[in-house]
Amino acid sequence: MKLGVVGLGYAGLCTAACFARKFEVIGIDVDRGRVSQLNRGEVPIHEEGLPSLLKSGITGRTLSFTTDYDSLLGTDIVFIAVGTPSKSDGAIDLSQVTTASALIGRQIARSKKTRLIVIKSTVTPGTATTVVKPLLEKEAGKSCGDGFGLCSNPEFLREGAAIEDTLRPDRVVIGPFDERSGRAIKSFYRRFYGPRSPKMVETTPENAELIKYASNTFLATKISFVNFIARICETLPGADVGDVAFGMGLDPRIGRQYLEAGPGFGGACFPKDSRALGAFTLQRGLDGSLLRSVLEINDTQPDWIVSSVEKALGSIRGKDVAILGVAFKEESDDVRESRAIVLAKRLISKGAQVRITDPKAMEGARRELGKGAEYYDDPRDCIRGADAAIVMVAWEKFKKLKPGDFVRLMRTPVLFDARRIYDAAEYGLGALKFMAIGRGDLPKVRG
Ligand code: UDX
Repeated sequence: MKLGVVGLGYAGLCTAACFARKFEVIGIDVDRGRVSQLNRGEVPIHEEGLPSLLKSGITGRTLSFTTDYDSLLGTDIVFIAVGTPSKSDGAIDLSQVTTASALIGRQIARSKKTRLIVIKSTVTPGTATTVVKPLLEKEAGKSCGDGFGLCSNPEFLREGAAIEDTLRPDRVVIGPFDERSGRAIKSFYRRFYGPRSPKMVETTPENAELIKYASNTFLATKISFVNFIARICETLPGADVGDVAFGMGLDPRIGRQYLEAGPGFGGACFPKDSRALGAFTLQRGLDGSLLRSVLEINDTQPDWIVSSVEKALGSIRGKDVAILGVAFKEESDDVRESRAIVLAKRLISKGAQVRITDPKAMEGARRELGKGAEYYDDPRDCIRGADAAIVMVAWEKFKKLKPGDFVRLMRTPVLFDARRIYDAAEYGLGALKFMAIGRGDLPKVRG
C-alpha cells in the first residue's frame, strides 16, 4: 500500500514518519526548504522519537519527500494534513486546504485508480462536505463515492508525545462519506495497528470534525476553569488550588488531567481551536460567551501574574525580571502562543528589563522578542542580580534551584511560581518572597 501525506508540519510529518514503519509514504509540502531539509535527513522540529523514525524511513526507502503532487499518482490513500491558521476574526484560514484539495483533485482526474482522500487537518464542522468534497469533485471530474473515497479523520497529537499518540491513540475518529470509504479507512488502520487496534469511532464527517474541536476546547475550558478557581484561592487565605484540583479530580466524572493551574494554555491548538469554534458559533447565530470567557481568562493570566509581581516590587519600571521558561510547555522548543512571550512583552511595555532562560526555546524567544530581552543559558546567571523571577515552564532544570539560590543570587529575592513547581512549605520560608499561582496564604488580595 502506498500513502501520500500532504502538509509536513507537525501533525503531517509525525503521521508520515509513523505510517512509514509499515507502508511506503510520500510526504508532500510546498515549502521547498523544508522538503530539501528532510531529504538531507535533517529534522525540522523537536519531537521525541521522530529523528529515529525519519532515519529508518529514509534509509529503508519507505519514506520520501517532495514538492511535486505528480508523485501522488500511484498512491492508494492521500492524507491532507496542511495547516489551518487563524484569521484575524479567529475563524480558520482554509487556503492551504483548498489549494491541496484542488491539486489532489487534479491527480485523481489523471488516474483510473479509485483513491481514498482522508482529511486530518483541523477544520470546522461542515468543511469536508461544503468545501473539500465539491473542490475534489470539480477538479477530478468524478463524484465522491464512485470516483474517489473521502473521510474525515482528525488527529489528537500532543507536541512532545506526537509519536506515542500516533502509535497508541486513545481512539481513532473516522467520518467516512460512504460505506466503501469507511471500509477502506478501517481496513487501513487495522493493518497499521494490527491486533491491538485502538477503538474506532465511526460517525458522520461533521461529527468527526466537531469531536476534534469539542475535545480541544473542553480541555482548554478545564484549564481556564482551574485558573479561575486559582484566582479565587489567591483571595482566600488558607486556600490552595493544588489541593482543590486534587480533591476535584478524584471524582471520575471530573478526572485529574488538565486541571493544573498555571500561566494559561498556549501552543498551536488550544488557543486557535477555541477562537475558531467561537467564531463558528457566532457565524451560526449562537451565543459564544462560554468560549469567550475561556479565552478571556487565558488572555488575562499573564496580566494576573504581572500585577502580583508589581505588588511585591512596588513598581515594575526599571526592574530586572527573570523569566524562567518561554516554551508553551515543558519538553518543547515551541513558543507559539506561549504565555511567557505574552508576559515578557507586557513586562517590557511596563518598562522592565526582561531576562530569559529556557533549555530548548531560546531560538523562538529571540525570534519573538529580539533585542527587547537579554538571554541566558544558565538559570543561575539569569536570576543573578534580578529583582524578580517568574517560573513560566516546569522544566526539570528549574526545579533544581533552591530557595538559597534565589536569596543569594537575586538583588531582591521575589519569586513567582506560575507552574507550581516549588513546595511552598520550603520556598515560602525565610528571606525569599515566594508567590505561586493559586495559593491563598500569601498576601495576594488585590485592592
Ligand atoms: C493539544 C492537545 O492535547 C492535543 O490532543 C491536540 O491535538 C493538540 O493540542 P498540545 O498543544 O501539544 O496538545 O499541548 P498540551 O500538552 O495539551 O498542552 C496545551 C497547553 O495547556 C500547554 O500550554 C500546557 O502547559 C497547558 N496546560 C495543560 C495547563 O496549563 N494545565 C494543564 O493541566 C494541562
